[in-house]
Amino acid sequence: MTDLDTLAQEALAAVAAADDLEHLDEVRVRFTGKRSALTGVQKAMRDLDPDERRARGQALNAFRSAFQAAFEARREALGSAALATRLEAERLDLTLPPRRLPPGRPHLLTQVEQEMVDVFVGMGYQVAEGPEAEAGSYNFDLLNIESDHPARQEMDTIYVDGFDDVVLRTHTSPVQARVMTRQAPPIAVVCPGRTYRADAVDATHSPVFSQVEGLVVDEGVTMGDLRGTLLAFSRAMFGHERRIRLRPSFFPFTEPSAEVDVSFEGAAGHHGWLEILGAGMVDPNVLTACGIDPERYTGFAFGIGIERVAMLRHGVADIRDLYEADARFLARF
Ligand code: DAH
Repeated sequence: MTDLDTLAQEALAAVAAADDLEHLDEVRVRFTGKRSALTGVQKAMRDLDPDERRARGQALNAFRSAFQAAFEARREALGSAALATRLEAERLDLTLPPRRLPPGRPHLLTQVEQEMVDVFVGMGYQVAEGPEAEAGSYNFDLLNIESDHPARQEMDTIYVDGFDDVVLRTHTSPVQARVMTRQAPPIAVVCPGRTYRADAVDATHSPVFSQVEGLVVDEGVTMGDLRGTLLAFSRAMFGHERRIRLRPSFFPFTEPSAEVDVSFEGAAGHHGWLEILGAGMVDPNVLTACGIDPERYTGFAFGIGIERVAMLRHGVADIRDLYEADARFLARF
């Protein structure tokens, strides 16, 4: 019997010493598996006489159930310890603040353009568009800018290679001509879009920039209507205390023409005027060229630089900030 007692002691000690489920299973195989000492003991029972065999059988069963009980208990303990370790390792801290994705938003220029267009849509204007690669006839001829006119040089036109008389539009004014040749008065449209000039880049110039063109044609439209419209626009964009000032100017497509300044109040009572747009009464030559009777209809037009408005309103000193896609700059708007 002592061999079985020793075996039982060793086996139970080994179960207690198993420090994970894998070791525990090794212990089970070692003490109760096919090639274990226990199997040897079992086989040797054949040679015993019946009384001895019965006693041996009982002792064996006692060992088996003691081993089984110890094994189950240990397995449960190791199992819950393993689970606890895993839960600890995979612990989620639900109080940790999430890493937020910064939300995207329209570029400052897009925001300002939309606001400008909205102001005019609110006054009943429709939105019209035209191509950026434009026929010279729309960009110049229909707008009363003859081929030897100095304005053509002034505007530093970019010509499109391989096409006869196609330019990157130097202003949004050709959209006026497109609308007038297609649509009979009354007309009230705004035309936002990109424009191009062969200008060198500096703090206030860019070869690519953008404008919002406006055009109103109807019976009895006056310069007073133009002024009232531009005042309403300036106050909507810059604040209700603003005043505007029209200075005589020249554009081939308007007569009379004006440059329009908006008032500003700076620090320490410093105040003055800033130019924001060009405007005027549509030249009768332009109306005629576009198929509208200048004896019956009059109109006004204006062209506003979107960059200009964005820079004035948001205190942007360098136009390049609007194009360089620096996230730190853009995040401010
Ligand atoms: N097209 C002019 C420019 O680029 C701006 C302008 C002036 C547009 C007077 C107009 C206007 O419609 O009437 O610089």
